[in-house]
Amino acid sequence: MLSEERTFVAIKPDGVQRGLIGEVVSRFERKGFKVLAMKLLQVSDKQAADHYAEHEGKPFYPRLVKYIQSGPILAMVIKGYGAVDSVRHIVGATNPVNADVGTIRADFAQVMEYNVIHASDSVNSAEREIAIYFNEDEIFDTWKTKTEELIEEDELL
Ligand code: CMP
Repeated sequence: MLSEERTFVAIKPDGVQRGLIGEVVSRFERKGFKVLAMKLLQVSDKQAADHYAEHEGKPFYPRLVKYIQSGPILAMVIKGYGAVDSVRHIVGATNPVNADVGTIRADFAQVMEYNVIHASDSVNSAEREIAIYFNEDEIFDTWKTKTEELIEEDELL
């Protein structure tokens, strides 16, 4: 059964500063994913600590926090079929050196620690990360595309 997922995506400060918002968002829109929420924000100390809790204590953790707070990020909630894995394919491998050609990190980043974009790695992480940056009343899951309607109708047959 086809199921839709929500995932959390953030364009990191250098992506915002380099004018990549339109380019990056268009890749998800062209795929057919729905942007349910979008917010330009300065990451607070608490949000940074919550977001990167699993990396606390690692050598790169201080640089990670410094980078994510170095300017506003563009935080998004994206929804679609298999969205968590599919978005990560579009984003590319964590280390841009290994990212497949045509992915966002291959096209726009060079270094693992400064890799332009974040995308959740599981449905559980996505829901946890969405809650760090958004209230549910800021997320607009209020319309269906024709494709969604057709898929849902099909599964009722
Ligand atoms: P992101 O997908 O935002 O989630 C955690 C970030 O930590 C990751 O992107 C990288 O920027 C960074 N990261 C993960 N692993 C390493 C590592 N081994 N060395 C340096 N940075 C890392």
